[in-house]
Order: sequence, then structure tokens, then C-alpha cells
Amino acid sequence: LTPHDGEAHVALREVRTVGVVGSGTMATGIVEVFAKAGYDVTYVARSQAKVEAVRAAIAKSLEKAVQRGKLDEVARDAALGRLTGTTSLDDLARVDLVVEAVVEDLKVKQALFENLDEICKPGAILATTTSSLPVIECASVTKRPQDVVGMHFFNPAQIMKLVEVVHTVSTDDDVVATVQHLCRDLGKHPVTCGDRAGFIVNALLFPYLNDAVKMLEAHYASVDDIDTAMKTGCGYPMGPFELLDVVGLDVSLAIQRELYLEFRERGFAPAPLLEHLVTAGYLGRKTGRGFRTYA
Ligand code: 3HC
Repeated sequence: LTPHDGEAHVALREVRTVGVVGSGTMATGIVEVFAKAGYDVTYVARSQAKVEAVRAAIAKSLEKAVQRGKLDEVARDAALGRLTGTTSLDDLARVDLVVEAVVEDLKVKQALFENLDEICKPGAILATTTSSLPVIECASVTKRPQDVVGMHFFNPAQIMKLVEVVHTVSTDDDVVATVQHLCRDLGKHPVTCGDRAGFIVNALLFPYLNDAVKMLEAHYASVDDIDTAMKTGCGYPMGPFELLDVVGLDVSLAIQRELYLEFRERGFAPAPLLEHLVTAGYLGRKTGRGFRTYA
């Protein structure tokens, strides 16, 4: 047992209502996951247009789930009925758990945690989906670092089963246990880990992705051949360039930089080509161009 594998030994906190902050790919997927699992979700976006865009994206994804026989129409309508979109953080005052999924910028996240600390009720769990920043940096700006935890979902959140539950040096055991329990209730598989850059998956995945970019840069092999090799040679569902374009090159670069800063491995230095593509604004599928071009 790890020190935080104590779900059976601590009283769990009650989580019935959930808040999600953000309106990007991850936030939208996470809102959908909670609503499908029966939780009332209040999500906070920066504009009314974004509130509506999140709802439309979820409606589309739920429709796809119905078409694939994963969901019936009654469950789809019930899930949509559990969504409340807002532009005001104040609407999170009564929720039991907030999941933050805003941009990977520490200043933005810290300002948000300061606000959540003021707004949320005592005992509410404050979770961050950060994939590259230290969770303790968010916890430390609040007066309740014991209630702050990492809840790292994977992309696409509706489909990927893993959630890394990240405990800082301050996180209470009952918070970790509650979030693990919650993940199972969402149909996810939680793993727990400490607050080190990359957690488990990205610490192993991104050096590989970065190496693929370096291989391309050295004119060693083409994008298509590298992707084909890893898919057919290793059984990966996506090749490294497909995955980088899905995750986003900006997010990927941020993760690689954090790994380099933390572990100081020379080979972890971000590939210059990755830096250049980000500078050019070629961020992957979301901008229509990354390692490949999309219609
Ligand atoms: N709702 C519910 N289920 C859905 C759905 C939806 N909207 N859309 C698709 N599905 C289901 C399908 O029914 C199918 O389920 P089944 O196998 O039980 O029938 C399953 O999801 C796969 O769907 P598809 O067949 O349409 O798609 P693919 O076979 O092309 O797989 C994929 C899609 C699962 C995304 C696959 O390409 C994959 O695994 N890619 C790798 C993703 C990955 O590695 N993500 C991690 C990135 S790293 C990260 O997120 C960390 C971050 O910090 C950067």
C-alpha cells in the first residue's frame, strides 16, 4: 500500500455536485464524463458564446455515443439536463468538488485558485487537471492546501479510462481517497502518484514523443513512416505525430519544458522543430496544422 492508498481506512467526503472551470477540449470532455455518470455539473466559461459552445460539443458527443450504442436517448437527455453553464465563478459556492481545466499557465491557475479559495464552501475539494505544472503551486496560494489535489484526465477524456490522482505534500488522505472513489464511479481507472513533473504517463510518454520529433528533424525518417512504424510495430493506437497533433503542440512543448526543468536530462531538451512549429502557430488539429495539415 502506498501512503495514499488508504481509501478503505478513511471516511470519504460527499461529492454530489461538481464544478468545472474551462471551456477547452479537456474541460468539455470532463463535464461530459460527470454528467453522464449522474452528477449535476456547473461549468464556468469566459463568455456566453463559450458556454454555448461547450454545451453544443457535449450534445454532439452524446449523440455520437447514442449512434454507437453506448448510450440510450433517455440517458442522453438526462445528461444534458444535468448541465448548467455560467460565466460566473460565484456559482461554484455550493459545489462539493471543483475541477479546474483552464490554460496551462501557472499565473492564470494561481489566480483562479485564489478565487476558488474565496468562493467555495469549506471542505470542498479543489482539483486541477494540470499535466505539466506542480500541483503544490496551486495549493500554496490557497488557505486550504489540504483540499487541493491533481486529477489528470487523458485526451479524449470521454473515452480514455485513466485518471492520475496526484497528491502533494499537503493533500489530506481523505481527499485522495474520495477522488479515487469518485473516479471509479465515473467508470475511470485511477492511479495515484506524487507531484513530480509528468506524473506517471507524461514522464514516460513525452521523452518518446520528443525523440520522434528529433528523428524527423535529423531527416532520419518521415512523419508517415515513423507513425506507421510505431502503430504497426508496437500496437500503439496512434503514432507519435498523430498524438502530438491531437494533444496540441503548445501543450506538448509546455510538458517537455517542465520535464527538462525538473529532471535536467540533456535528452529532455525540447526538439527545436517543436519550438518552431509552436512559434509559427502550428499547434496541431486545433489550428488545422501541426505535423500534418487538416481540412
Ligand atoms: N462517446 C462515447 N464513446 C465514444 C465516443 C463518444 N463520443 N466516440 C467514440 N467512442 C468509443 C467508441 O465507441 C469506441 O468504443 P469501443 O471500442 O468499445 O467500440 C472507442 O470509443 C474508440 O472509438 P473509435 O473506434 O471511433 O476510435 P479509434 O478506434 O480511432 O480510437 C482513440 C480513438 C481511443 C482516441 C484512439 O485513437 C487512441 O487510443 N488514441 C491515443 C490516445 C492517447 O494516447 N491519449 C493520451 C494522450 S496524452 C494525454 O492526454 C496527457 C495530456 O496531459 C497531454
